[in-house]
Amino acid sequence: MPTDWWRGAVIYQIYIRGFGDGDGDGIGDVAGIRARLPYLARLGVDAIWITPWYPSPMADGGYDVADYRDIDPVLGTLAEADTLIAEAHQHGLRVILDIVPNHTSSAHPWFQAALGAAPGSAERERYLFRDGSGAGGDLPPNNWRSVFGGPAWTRVPDGQWYLHMFAPGQPDLNWAEPAVRAEFEDILRFWFDRGVDGFRIDVANRMAKDPALPDLAGPVAPGQHPYQDRDEVHDIYRGWRRVADSYDPPRVFVAEAWMQDQDRFALYVRGDELHTAFNFDFLTTPWDCAATRDSIDGTLARLRRVDAPATWVLSNHDVVRHLSRFGRPPHAQGRGAHFVQLNALADSPLDIELGTRRARAAALLLLALPGSGYVYQGDELGLWEVEDLPDDVLQDPTWEQSGRTNRGRDGCRVPLPWSGDGPPFGFGPPGSSPWLPQPSAWKALTAARQEEDPGSMLSLYRTAIALRGTLDVLGDGPLAWLPDVPDGVLAFLRGRDFVCAVNYSAAEPWPLPAGASVLLASGPLPDGRLPADTGVWLEFRGR
Ligand code: GLC
Repeated sequence: MPTDWWRGAVIYQIYIRGFGDGDGDGIGDVAGIRARLPYLARLGVDAIWITPWYPSPMADGGYDVADYRDIDPVLGTLAEADTLIAEAHQHGLRVILDIVPNHTSSAHPWFQAALGAAPGSAERERYLFRDGSGAGGDLPPNNWRSVFGGPAWTRVPDGQWYLHMFAPGQPDLNWAEPAVRAEFEDILRFWFDRGVDGFRIDVANRMAKDPALPDLAGPVAPGQHPYQDRDEVHDIYRGWRRVADSYDPPRVFVAEAWMQDQDRFALYVRGDELHTAFNFDFLTTPWDCAATRDSIDGTLARLRRVDAPATWVLSNHDVVRHLSRFGRPPHAQGRGAHFVQLNALADSPLDIELGTRRARAAALLLLALPGSGYVYQGDELGLWEVEDLPDDVLQDPTWEQSGRTNRGRDGCRVPLPWSGDGPPFGFGPPGSSPWLPQPSAWKALTAARQEEDPGSMLSLYRTAIALRGTLDVLGDGPLAWLPDVPDGVLAFLRGRDFVCAVNYSAAEPWPLPAGASVLLASGPLPDGRLPADTGVWLEFRGR
């Protein structure tokens, strides 16, 4: 097995609670993944990334971890997880888990001990407890805001406050504390020893904080922001890399780091730090030829400097599904539009058919770009964002913490439709009811139905991933833009003979270059031309 598989892999993200429900309680679980490993193997992906499956009070979809060395009883057992890891490997699938180091759950024994201990105690030092400001300490220690809305501080009965950059149930750890570093390296080893191939690192750029916890006041020098992307975070990852490299084969990391400064972003994937990081610049690029080309160029140029491969991501469990972004007018697609703002959708009607056409073209683009590609569960079924979930089923803390102005991320987490004509669509056993309601229109999108249809999204993904496996020039390696291509068409060469082209423009169908044969197309190619919102893979034979 090559040890640099991660440089050019296709990785499938499993949001476990929405993937497959083995025991019928309405919540996806380990058994549900095990039962669907043959599906994933058939899809042809190289690895799966499983979102947090640890015991959790579910203040934030499992990203509030109460015990990093166990499985939530709702989802399975540790023994079952071991079995899953072994079975995945038998299917040729590597397994990446999700580690959440910025914060624990408030139910974690460390936080419970901190609550029971006095201000200034060693127990409190593992988190960020401070006295309040103002007379009597009645005000939060500083002006930081939670990502989900509201202040980033909650007061405890003895009067001190603790920091939580996310939900109150997610207290931030103090990474200046050696015990915290030692604990997480030990957690990595715990799972690496069980055969896990790597970790996705949650909020990878926020662990280091300015110990003075100053107010956020205006622009700051790179590396000096009080809680984001501080220089000290890199030292943590050098330590993690040493742990990963001590295994045979070496284990790998992918960072989740939402960053404005893309040059700073590249620092995370220097040779002695993390292997890869999600490319959110690409994810937040609207359906636009020039913007997409800029994002690709920028990504490749920056990563080349540190010799890291790129990643390509369009959707995940935190953003509006890309089919629904691309099916909207441009202003509703791009940067900042990936979170559903309650009122933003009203004036931007969704065209599902258009979104689907573009999502098909985007799949061919993503799988042809140099580096590794991520598929979020349901991308391969052409699922759209579920935007009409009733208020009372919403689970994302964003909804309440934003004062019910931001509906949050539940719409991309709705359980997958596998088979059948109505809910639960084979997600769980007949009669079970999924934790978020599935649209009845997903009847047309079940995996079973798409299996039989060579024109389906599922068939497109399968064929593209299989082809990618046979074409040595895909995956990691160079890319060259094809010259003499009209505005609105994105076309690049991989190797000497392979071209991927996408027509973004409604203006003119693009006549395919002479001498090219079509390997795969995302839609019809009338008269040998590539119409708008269509992608194609071409091969020049005998050039
Ligand atoms: C990451 C996760 C997101 C979670 C947050 C806090 O952004 O992807 O789902 O809410 O971290 O852990």
